Amino acid sequence: EIKACLFDLDGVLVDTAKYHYIAWRELAEQLGFVFTEKDNERLKGVSRTASLNILLEIGGLTLDEERKAELAEQKNNRYVEYIAKMDSSEILPGALDFLKECRAQKIKTALGSASKNAMMILQNTGLTPYFDAIIDGTHTSAAKPDPEVFLLGAKAVYVEPEECVVFEDAEAGITAAIRAGMRSVGIGSPETLSAADIVVPSLAHISVAALRESFTSV
Ligand code: G6P
Ligand code: MG
Repeated sequence: EIKACLFDLDGVLVDTAKYHYIAWRELAEQLGFVFTEKDNERLKGVSRTASLNILLEIGGLTLDEERKAELAEQKNNRYVEYIAKMDSSEILPGALDFLKECRAQKIKTALGSASKNAMMILQNTGLTPYFDAIIDGTHTSAAKPDPEVFLLGAKAVYVEPEECVVFEDAEAGITAAIRAGMRSVGIGSPETLSAADIVVPSLAHISVAALRESFTSV
């Protein structure tokens, strides 16, 4: 039986991937190399520090920790400028209805995000009241694909991992769900998310009823 739905934030509930991309691209430009949208795929679901390391690897740069901390902060300041202006219009299609449906059907909801900016995004988009628990990058010590964020989410709503479904747009997030012993729904393209139990283009393409049907064995 499905008792809890755990949601990634960026790319599942809100369209922040574009802001992350713009901010990282600006940084790459400043450092003297091109960072493409395809490169950006590798940063989805990945923590800020790990993202910077990937970016620098793409640019072929090796920097010391102090300089890296500065650049990570600079990128984040730029990113925060964008998300500070977000509102409910940037909630992705189907996300709000799906959260409401979970509540109506007494399914617990938890956020499982790597972002340290999750609270600001939830507040600005008005999504905060739809969650029973919020686990973000300020609560975790290990980043996805480590299952920590989802295991903490399950614990916070008192549901066993096998009764949880994770919604993720990133490969690292699907791996985290699998490692946590949870079901997973990939949001995006089947090519990148082939490890997920189900893949849909957006939350508008799935209902709690359809989810229950797909996972009848639980
Ligand atoms: C999410 C995004 C990543 C981002 C990470 C950390 O997982 O998909 O692209 O790097 O959060 O976000 P933060 O807001 O803490 O930099
Ligand atoms: Mg994501």
